[in-house]
Amino acid sequence: MSALVDVRAASKVFRQPATLVERIGSAFGVCELPRPVHAVDDVSLEIRNGEVLGLVGESGCGKSTLGRMIAGILPPSAGSALFDGMPLLAGAGRPVKSTTRVQMIFQDPFASLDPRMRVGDIIAEGPVAHGLVSKSASAADVSRWLSTVGLDPQVADRYPHQFSGGQRQRIAIARALAMRPDMLVCDEPVASLDVSIQAQIVNLFLKLRRDLGLTMLFISHDLGVVRHVSDRIAIMYLGRIVEIGTARSVFERPRHPYTRALLDSVPRLRIDDRVEVDFRPIRGELPSPLDPPAGCHFHMRCPHANEACAVQRPTLLHVEGREVACLRATELDLSGEAPP
Ligand SMILES: Nc1ncnc2c1ncn2[C@@H]1O[C@H](COP(=O)(O)OP(=O)(O)OP(=O)(O)O)[C@@H](O)[C@H]1O
Ligand code: SF4
Ligand SMILES: [Mg+2]
Repeated sequence: MSALVDVRAASKVFRQPATLVERIGSAFGVCELPRPVHAVDDVSLEIRNGEVLGLVGESGCGKSTLGRMIAGILPPSAGSALFDGMPLLAGAGRPVKSTTRVQMIFQDPFASLDPRMRVGDIIAEGPVAHGLVSKSASAADVSRWLSTVGLDPQVADRYPHQFSGGQRQRIAIARALAMRPDMLVCDEPVASLDVSIQAQIVNLFLKLRRDLGLTMLFISHDLGVVRHVSDRIAIMYLGRIVEIGTARSVFERPRHPYTRALLDSVPRLRIDDRVEVDFRPIRGELPSPLDPPAGCHFHMRCPHANEACAVQRPTLLHVEGREVACLRATELDLSGEAPP
């Protein structure tokens, strides 16, 4: 498979402009200027044509920021993000998205749909504006995409508030598909849904991938969901990718201590003499992206850290058929039980 997305040494730093009070306060030494947030730190990865790459990590580690760069919504502060060999954003000053071939699906389907527009208009708006469908053909096109996502075409006249959460997410997916994308960036697309609806939407993604040959970046906190849908999985920690490999290898034989800790933090039900829920939460908290630690970002929480880990930044290296950014990756035995 060739690479459809090629992210090269991409970083994203958010800088909040200082208020007048902060600037005066800082000049007199009574307060600090806002510090930059290092949301994504020198990430390189490829997403192959037709594959689903899962992206996992704790809240605040930069998953959405990386997803938005890959969707062409956010420009990188450094490095580049290419889609089919072309930059995802074009133009100087205020760059704009250069392709409609990547579409994004967000966590909250209610917030992402305009409550004042009818569903049919929401789905038709983009393709008509981009000349993908003529105005006269748009009603038939809307029906086609509503059917594709499992909704009755007759609902095109209704408004978003007249649907359940799962149905609204189907509408958001239909809107994205109507743009004829080659790729979807799905940012926690099932996190706001209850468990039975989650399964339906996950199955819909799998069906769409099969029927339409879509490439996907699938961002989720839920390791079970990510394992189910992904060919490969990237594990992210404080702005960096620390392990990336096939879903099976990462889950069954993790080589990075953070991946191991993430897997151990998934609750498992044990039924021996008595029923017990077994899980080991990751010790400590995610450090602040305002002031990321030196060396390996994980060293303050890692049970295997040594002195070098606090000063030397690990780079991604090939270990046992995947890439791992850990100074001790080849010597540690991280075997253990994979979560259900
Ligand atoms: N527009 C922004 N301005 C300033 N800081 C931002 C902005 N967007 C994100 N951040 C910061 O960048 C860091 C990464 O945020 P991001 O939303 O990418 O994390 P995430 O992994 O998606 O988290 P979650 O799992 O909670 O969605 C966080 O510290 C966040 O506060
Ligand atoms: S580099 Fe060191 S601190 Fe980082 S994960 Fe590996 S052993 Fe742990
Ligand atoms: Mg997010």
